[in-house]
Amino acid sequence: LAEITTLLLSRIRDVPDYPEQGVMFKDITPLLADPAAFTALTDALAEIATNTGATKVVGLEARGFILGAPVAVRAGLGFIPVRKAGKLPGATLRQAYDLEYGSAEIEVHAEDLSSGDRVLIVDDVLATGGTAEAAIQLIHRAGAEVSGLAVLMELGFLDGRARLEPALNGAPLEALLQI
Ligand code: PRP
Ligand code: MG
Repeated sequence: LAEITTLLLSRIRDVPDYPEQGVMFKDITPLLADPAAFTALTDALAEIATNTGATKVVGLEARGFILGAPVAVRAGLGFIPVRKAGKLPGATLRQAYDLEYGSAEIEVHAEDLSSGDRVLIVDDVLATGGTAEAAIQLIHRAGAEVSGLAVLMELGFLDGRARLEPALNGAPLEALLQI
């Protein structure tokens, strides 16, 4: 595990003052471009899917799609996209969440999840936890359970973990890297 941590960390690029002054952006594109690192990441997240008894993988648009889809294939599970509102053509459930300035909405196709499902949510970064919290609410409203939340990076100083504790209700929050 120490080995994979070092490999993953070495492929994340720090970009200062992006997208605005004072923010250190964590760019995962070098990791995606390195097949050994991307494979190691996919395997680690797929193991979490299996260990938590997931029946589906949900990826959060957009970077959660890139990470979550190969995890679903590797774990032998279906992939369900949670999209930013207005992109899904079928009947959806929609959930609003707060951003630093204003708010946003995400959606899932209602027919993609049902009461027997245990869902692993995959995303690149846990920051304030607002996006993940809205995804958990969507999954619960669809009648499904959350098997866990798996992220590449947890920005600990924003304390998203504490925010998510009630919604996760005992389901594990697994972060491969602590920033
Ligand atoms: C980023 C990141 C996470 C989310 C974390 O997504 O990929 O999904 O923010 O922030 P939070 O914990 O404070 O909600 P964003 O919507 O900015 O961009 P993306 O479409 O590139 O994934
Ligand atoms: Mg995102």
